Amino acid sequence: MSDVKRPVLGVGLLGLGTVGQGVVRILEDRAADFEARLGRRLSVVAALVRDPAKSRERVPEHVRVTTDPMSVLTDPSVDIVMEVMGGIDPAGKLIRQALRMGKHVITANKALLADHGEEIFQTAREADRAVCFEAAVGGGIPIIQALRVGLAANRIVSISAILNGTCNFILTAMTRAGRDYGEVLAEAQKLGYAEADPTLDVDGTDTAHKLAVLVQVAFGRKVTTSEISRRGIDRLEAADIRFAGELGYVVKLLARARVRPEGLELRVAPTLVPKGSQLADISDAYNAIRVEGDAVGDTLFSGRGAGMLPTASAMVSDLIGLAVDPRFRVRQTEELWRPATNAIALVSPDEFRMRAYLRFQIPDRPGELAHLARILGENGISIASVIQHEPMADEREQASVPLVIMTHTATAGAMRLALDEIARTCRLPSEPVCLEVSGHTGRDD
Ligand SMILES: NC(=O)c1ccc[n+]([C@@H]2O[C@H](COP(=O)([O-])OP(=O)(O)OC[C@H]3O[C@@H](n4cnc5c(N)ncnc54)[C@H](OP(=O)(O)O)[C@@H]3O)[C@@H](O)[C@H]2O)c1
Repeated sequence: MSDVKRPVLGVGLLGLGTVGQGVVRILEDRAADFEARLGRRLSVVAALVRDPAKSRERVPEHVRVTTDPMSVLTDPSVDIVMEVMGGIDPAGKLIRQALRMGKHVITANKALLADHGEEIFQTAREADRAVCFEAAVGGGIPIIQALRVGLAANRIVSISAILNGTCNFILTAMTRAGRDYGEVLAEAQKLGYAEADPTLDVDGTDTAHKLAVLVQVAFGRKVTTSEISRRGIDRLEAADIRFAGELGYVVKLLARARVRPEGLELRVAPTLVPKGSQLADISDAYNAIRVEGDAVGDTLFSGRGAGMLPTASAMVSDLIGLAVDPRFRVRQTEELWRPATNAIALVSPDEFRMRAYLRFQIPDRPGELAHLARILGENGISIASVIQHEPMADEREQASVPLVIMTHTATAGAMRLALDEIARTCRLPSEPVCLEVSGHTGRDD
């Protein structure tokens, strides 16, 4: 693409599924507005699909639908390629080919950026082209340009975020109705909030992909998904959500990044968040990202984190950005996923600072609490509060009862050692549950 302004800016879509059709819809519906504002037309000229016979929203006649990716990339009327096909291969290969052919690229593909961002951005630098990815994190929430432009004056200190709508929908339903994970997941699948195979959502991988992208933008640090300590919501029990509620918390799947003197702490984990805090109030399929900058303090960005039109909104905002000032977007691309120089160190998971919610199923006999408290104390973990109810009428015959302990801050390594020792010496009927606890600001203090 030459950066000379032509009367029509041609878009080639790689993919015409949920997001691709949303892009077509917004560009069709707002064509006249965009042309009036930009002085030229934004038009989808070609779209790659796997199966042309699939039923879709009405595709305008001027969009050539094809199964041949090269016919999109080599089309001289395509100036900008929007990759909305997903997956690593062939998406990554096609993006690099498009860049080498002189096209700017817009992508929503967080999985690809998280683990292959370096190759893609290196190719973009060599080709002097832009790669834009507002839709890759937080769907319709414009967090990427907020970090890159709106908060440019700041050193980012911490990020705490709810980045997966499926998980947030499931956790919200479990909290409201006191229902079990499996039951709520089945309902989420029926309503279209969860994929038929929800593994990457519920095991925290999708959230880790998005955190990896945010960390690159906010801290200039390349991390692959495997470097992020992560845990999903797939083993959460209704009992823990209920006890968290009693203690004044709700459980959220949080992605957290925090600068400490020792380096950067990164984790994805189900976390107790105080009721009444901003992240606690983010419900259903909504996403939110809390960013703390050294100058601005705390900021919160929230909105729809996925879906046809919210995601397309972010894609089209990148398209408009490229239409207005492509060189600015090329300069932004130059700064990202560079080979590491002076990168901030990652703190090892055992050194993470955390407050914990611990639930033990303990034999109903004297001395058990004292024994647990002694092991925690010997590992440097002090107790903030304890819940142990008298057994309910229907529990009186049971040999064990739940005991919930909230701790003060300790290292995750100390917590692990203490739980190992408890498992070794207490012969509990089930594994202890350990969840992280965050403060009002999404931090642990
Ligand atoms: N959906 C969301 O809410 C959302 C939100 C944020 C980011 N994203 C990201 O956006 C991307 C697209 O998501 P989506 O939900 O729109 O996916 P989708 O509905 O499954 O659509 C994928 C499209 O790509 C085409 N495609 C896939 N592999 C292909 C191949 N090898 N050759 C040719 N065409 C191929 C499919 O063709 P057919 O139509 O013929 O099957 C389909 O049109 C993903 O990277 C996703 O992570 C999605």
